[in-house]
Amino acid sequence: MTNKKNLTTSWGAPVGDNQNSITAGQRGPVLIQDVHLLEKLAHFNRERVPERVVHAKGAGAFGTFEVTNDLSQYTKAKLFNGVGKKTDLFIRFSTVAGELGSADTVRDPRGFAVKFYTEEGNYDIVGNNTPVFFIRDAIKFPDFIHTQKRDPRTHLKNPTAVWDFWSHSPESLHQVTILMSDRGIPATLRHTHGFGSHTFKWVNDEGKGVWVKYHFKTEQGIKNLDVNLAAKLAGENPDYHTEDLFNAIEKGDFPAWKLYVQIMPLEDADTYRFDPFDVTKVWSQKDYPLIELGRMELNRNPENYFAEVEQATFSPGTFVPGIEASPDKMLQGRLFAYGDAHRYRVGANHNHLPVNRPKVEANNYQRDGFMRADDNGKGSVYYEPNSFGGPVESTENKVAPFEVTGQAAQVGHNSDDHYTQAGDLYRLLSAEEKTRLVETIVGAMKPVELEEIKLRQIGHFYKADPEYGTRVAEGLGLAVPQEA
Ligand code: HEM
Repeated sequence: MTNKKNLTTSWGAPVGDNQNSITAGQRGPVLIQDVHLLEKLAHFNRERVPERVVHAKGAGAFGTFEVTNDLSQYTKAKLFNGVGKKTDLFIRFSTVAGELGSADTVRDPRGFAVKFYTEEGNYDIVGNNTPVFFIRDAIKFPDFIHTQKRDPRTHLKNPTAVWDFWSHSPESLHQVTILMSDRGIPATLRHTHGFGSHTFKWVNDEGKGVWVKYHFKTEQGIKNLDVNLAAKLAGENPDYHTEDLFNAIEKGDFPAWKLYVQIMPLEDADTYRFDPFDVTKVWSQKDYPLIELGRMELNRNPENYFAEVEQATFSPGTFVPGIEASPDKMLQGRLFAYGDAHRYRVGANHNHLPVNRPKVEANNYQRDGFMRADDNGKGSVYYEPNSFGGPVESTENKVAPFEVTGQAAQVGHNSDDHYTQAGDLYRLLSAEEKTRLVETIVGAMKPVELEEIKLRQIGHFYKADPEYGTRVAEGLGLAVPQEA
């Protein structure tokens, strides 16, 4: 090849020899004055950033969102206004518990994080492929995740810890039932739905709000993996899902999802039959039917995994005008957790990296910090208020005022019904699906060390549906509870 570029050091100087270190004589030792060698080794030592504390293993892709149904009567967010409006996006799918190099075909929820590069700044939906979650207060999250990760003594996964936590946290039952069902191991990342899971608030240009939930429905259809095949693939090709997504996009077989929303009038939240901000529950689609909003297509692979997938930072608090938080206690905790994780994992200036940078100019008074790689605002005014024409707030973009009531206190949710929706889901399954669900649960609970944990958990299954609890108890060779 002609016109090869000179190899240079990071400071741009041409490198004379990239194969032989400078040595004293042919045998050595090596001289410390070989600064190219020193820099090469030192930079290599710093190639890793901390992996995500959860959702470490992931695959990403770029794509486009197109509005197919105008919902501007509910939200002023421009990305959702005007049929035909197109917005570029980046998505990252992930497993939750495993490390960066762990196998794709494990039983785990799949992260479904979408960054829309809208004309009003970035908007992130950081959801999962399940509509609910295991817990409903952020204060329980670190304990929950500890049980999903490795035991500090053995460095092994610990089923006793997993079921101990779940059996003591019956609000997890709905999500546990989904996770242990066929949907716990999707066939590919293309064959699974995505959900915002939490309730969010939409506000229109008159300042009127509604509660909203997001549903991404796969156009590829739902397909799940047989457990034996999944186990085989985990050994033979731990990157099976990553490879499938990359290859599909590379050959032009672009995966797509329809985006729907459920919309609830604000006032219904006070009278609905359960707390609509409880992320362990779904809203009935009979009460709040799915309304089409648009279509997401993935059509471009990242050029560089580290730059674009590993350094991508998503936060459920990355809002644009017209989309706001709800009082969901889990969501409220997440509004802090993600930005904090990004500042630790990628740095205070993570939003300057190309994959995270908004497509619109970001104008603010943030300055300096590690790895500030742009012009750092040059000589422009660096404080506010000022007399020098710096960027100013736009009062029409204030958060919509909302009422808060009640006494500040450390109180739980107002419902202990962890059983109705989990039971409804169980009853909805076919006979074969029920059998596979029970077999999976029995297999997962067998290694649990304490019988009291198994009995406590069986009690929860029984309360969801006596048949559910009975079959798990029988599978484990334990006594069937006498009453729900
Ligand atoms: C990633 C915290 C609940 C979906 C993360 C990360 C943290 C975190 C710290 C790593 C972020 C990073 O390093 O970039 C929490 C806390 C939760 C919670 C404290 C509860 C209070 C949830 C829920 C969902 C979810 C309910 C889904 C509905 C995700 C996804 C990612 C993630 C998809 C990966 C984002 C990416 O691809 O970069 N979470 N999480 N999390 N979380 Fe959560």
